[in-house]
Amino acid sequence: MNTVELIKKKRDGKTLTNEEISFLVENYTKKKIPDYQFSAFLMAAFLKGLNKRETSALTNSMLYSGKVLDLSEIPGTKVDKHSTGGVGDKTSLIIAPVVAAAGINVPMISGRGLGHTGGTLDKLESIPGFNVNLNLKKYKQNLKKTQAVLIGQTRDIAPADKLIYSLRDVTATVESIPFITASIMSKKLAEGIDGLVLDVKTGSGAFMKKKSGAVALAQSLIGTAKNFNKKVMAFITDMNQPLGNYIGNWFEVYESIKVLHGEKTGGLWELSMNLSGAMLMLGKKVKSLKEGVELSVEMIKSGKAFDKFLEIVEAQNGNTFYIKNPEKYPSSKFSQKIQFTQNGYVEKIDTYKIGIAALELGAGRKTKEDKIDPKAGIIFKAKLGNRVKKNDIIAEVFSDNEAGIERAAGLISGAVSVSKTKPPIPKLIKNVID
Ligand code: URA
Repeated sequence: MNTVELIKKKRDGKTLTNEEISFLVENYTKKKIPDYQFSAFLMAAFLKGLNKRETSALTNSMLYSGKVLDLSEIPGTKVDKHSTGGVGDKTSLIIAPVVAAAGINVPMISGRGLGHTGGTLDKLESIPGFNVNLNLKKYKQNLKKTQAVLIGQTRDIAPADKLIYSLRDVTATVESIPFITASIMSKKLAEGIDGLVLDVKTGSGAFMKKKSGAVALAQSLIGTAKNFNKKVMAFITDMNQPLGNYIGNWFEVYESIKVLHGEKTGGLWELSMNLSGAMLMLGKKVKSLKEGVELSVEMIKSGKAFDKFLEIVEAQNGNTFYIKNPEKYPSSKFSQKIQFTQNGYVEKIDTYKIGIAALELGAGRKTKEDKIDPKAGIIFKAKLGNRVKKNDIIAEVFSDNEAGIERAAGLISGAVSVSKTKPPIPKLIKNVID
């Protein structure tokens, strides 16, 4: 097969055979197809689309680019959660210890920041020493020992996604239902789970801006999970404002620690408890979502979830000093407060711009080679519907890069609008599909 011919075929709107898709994925993973050709294929497929059969072929090729784990030697049910990506979305850091503390195994393979959204691996790596690159033997050992393990794609597990994901991040080819489906499901199906809870985001900070797009993505993900006999449940959730008040890698670990200590930070608490509740239900620990939420809250109140978080961090080589003393974490050289310029109600937040502001501060990558600054980020105070006065603080930005501070401040002040009358506040959990 000829790579240029396959790019042309997709560019001209034709459908590719399963063999052609597998040729492209296999050879890109083996580095026989260079980045520039695979980028061209990605853009052609992004613009012309992939049908259901092509999406399933892409998922399969990416899944079998590595090993598909069998965790049957580890007793108990294994359940994971995956989010389609948002700003300030740190629920994995909260729900993995909550669910593990309740006795359900959580084998979690996550991604890095993608586009304007943050990634669980980058957040975990802000904890000094935390190792997200465990080999499969260690992955299984840790799961047995602490009931939860959080790693990234490896050479063994979904290596194609690891490569394609970082290429999509820098070629403007992220927001595509087939790509997101194949990316998420290739990782999730490889990790040896019995059940999967999906958090499909919609709104200004999500890849799917409209609810109809989020529902279509949820259906595509659910269909793929069912084809592989996995129990699955999807939440359609709001991303028209950042989740919680902190954005940036260490900042998000910091806010997760607060929640694990029982702080009910608005949407973050509600969503985390519902997602972990659903995982406990899929894992057959409880009979209903309501019971799952109650058990999750109990895990937090008893301190078991925080203790489990410490155990997980320790087992993955992380230094628990900052988890126990989060206020001692080093701070950025520069900071700036951004203020409201009028009285009124917070009407709209362009959450995409908030994500880009975090990137400008050093919390994300603009090129594949960019290094992340774990301390950089935003304390974001504005919430939709809040009554605000002129000079109240919208957000405070932190970075070692002074020019980045200026760019982020400009983006944030342009992203938040204020109205004279109280606007409707979007519902956080819009639908639950199972
Ligand atoms: N999360 C993923 O793992 N992949 C995507 O493409 C988007 C969100």
